[in-house]
Amino acid sequence: MSLIEQIDKNNVPEHVAIIMDGNGRWAKKQGKFRVFGHRAGVKAVREAVEGAAEVGVKFLTLYAFSTENWNRPKLEVEALMSLLLSSLKDELETLTKNNIKLKIIGDISKLPSKNQRELTSVVEKTKDNDRMTLILALSYSSKVEIIDSIKSIAQKVKDGIVDLSDIDESLVSNNLYTAGIPDVDLMIRTSGETRISNFLLWQIAYAELFFLDILWPDFRKKNLYESILDYQNRERRFGKTSEQL
Ligand code: FPP
Repeated sequence: MSLIEQIDKNNVPEHVAIIMDGNGRWAKKQGKFRVFGHRAGVKAVREAVEGAAEVGVKFLTLYAFSTENWNRPKLEVEALMSLLLSSLKDELETLTKNNIKLKIIGDISKLPSKNQRELTSVVEKTKDNDRMTLILALSYSSKVEIIDSIKSIAQKVKDGIVDLSDIDESLVSNNLYTAGIPDVDLMIRTSGETRISNFLLWQIAYAELFFLDILWPDFRKKNLYESILDYQNRERRFGKTSEQL
């Protein structure tokens, strides 16, 4: 039986999030510039998106650029931005054909205006697609997201729209960039690093975490399916005992 056939279709993680790490190391291992690794990383992005849609994942969030990544050398940042722009142009047709919606989380006002325009356009053109939502985290910081949600709730309290006693988990969730998107079920990080790096801190409260030793450009559908199979063998207790489940 192929890997995808072994997956229990009634227990597919609804929301998968991936920290795509190791592009630089992948390139270096071959004596090439870091940008070469990012370019190879785009193929892995395609594999992750196609693989997730094929198995029935409803939300896939990819950490494409963190607020901290702005501190990288200017040339690398520019290369990443132009790679993002060309990938968006190239992939619009595939997103449309596969009925995938694009959503962005993060502060894209810091991105070059060409990128902002293209992102807004692809988001608009795919807004009615409903097979899967691909969420790109761009210029994203989970701490900033939480601060923004605190500010917006505080403003509502000040304006008398929300009462202090109304503040609960669902209100906070609904004021995050990910409002309306279920919490993460499965989080994957490649490259052997075992950190969360300021990614979806609130949303991963009960996520199952997977740290893969491969570098991001080597990621293929098979790695996603292996992680999902492993996820299906874990018991998610949400604080309860085995007997209570
Ligand atoms: C991490 O590897 C990767 C990134 C910071 C960028 C990810 C971007 C892509 C895969 C390409 C563009 C994305 C889309 C959505 C089309 P690293 O550079 O931190 O690697 P290292 O840890 O080995 O240095």
